[in-house]
Amino acid sequence: MPRPKVFVSRRIPDEGLTRIAAACDVDLWPRQLPPPYDVLRDRVKDCDGLVSLLTDRIDGPLLDAAPRLRVVSNYAVGFNNVDVPSATARGVCVGNTPGVLTDATADTAVMLLMAAARRLAESAADAREGRWLTWEPLGWLGQDLAGRTLGVVGMGRIGFAVAKRLHHGWGMKVLYTEQVPRPEADRELGARRVELDELLAGSDFVSAHVDLNPSTKGMFGAAQFRRMKRTAVFVNTARGPLVDQAALAEALRSGTIFAAGLDVTDPEPLPPGHELFTLPNCVIVPHIASATVGTRDAMARICAENLLAGVRGDPLPHWVNPEVAGNRRPG
Ligand code: DGY
Repeated sequence: MPRPKVFVSRRIPDEGLTRIAAACDVDLWPRQLPPPYDVLRDRVKDCDGLVSLLTDRIDGPLLDAAPRLRVVSNYAVGFNNVDVPSATARGVCVGNTPGVLTDATADTAVMLLMAAARRLAESAADAREGRWLTWEPLGWLGQDLAGRTLGVVGMGRIGFAVAKRLHHGWGMKVLYTEQVPRPEADRELGARRVELDELLAGSDFVSAHVDLNPSTKGMFGAAQFRRMKRTAVFVNTARGPLVDQAALAEALRSGTIFAAGLDVTDPEPLPPGHELFTLPNCVIVPHIASATVGTRDAMARICAENLLAGVRGDPLPHWVNPEVAGNRRPG
């Protein structure tokens, strides 16, 4: 039997790459920046498997150009870069890496919340650049955390982990939105499920944890920021396009809300001259929520397991479209 051929669209940790290379012929894209779409389409045309990143667009035309492709193993928990219905229609399995990045992402949300609430970026820049003239009774005043109210928009694994940290660590009350009740959130965190408008009006901190899809795109706009408290801090570690960035910039500039902490933007990277970078009450980091050694290793392991199961014709351990099972492309 010939070894399966796979394209890996960026170097991932050896933890995954070594396993893949032991079983497959690997074509590895060696550069820091993603392969352009046309190059990706060309490189997968005779491949059985593909390791993709959230920066790679995987759509119907690309899948049509790769008639042997049986599996797309996305090195991320999010998969909005993959047109899953098109993959399913063509019998192509899609895998992702859930669970292992929950803690690292929740830590990042808390880090951004604190950094924005306590004006970390602004005050650190002032200290470094000579604007720290004395101890100032009224200088760099931020927001308290203890005993305040956290609004979790999307009480999935990551939202729950954020709420757990802030409820048990800082005694925060928790409001959340979710399509169905999460009894463990009510039980363990005393959390209360509410409509989005009530959450926005009642929270001191609003943290976004929903998937990006047509119904959530732009869900945080001018009207939503106006509903928040003037002291509110908004945090996004989910996906940039959930937010109308012009509206967020205006809300931050006008004092409609106090501050924001963003791990994700639209586009990524956000151009260096972008207005959000000019606002002292906006902290932006370059989509680093899962960027710990242990987390990225664990993601690589799962990514390899999904890929190898897919090329073998086995069930994927983390399968985004298991409904494809009866209709998989033949090996
Ligand atoms: C994901 O996995 O979806 C994150 O955004 C990157 O780790």
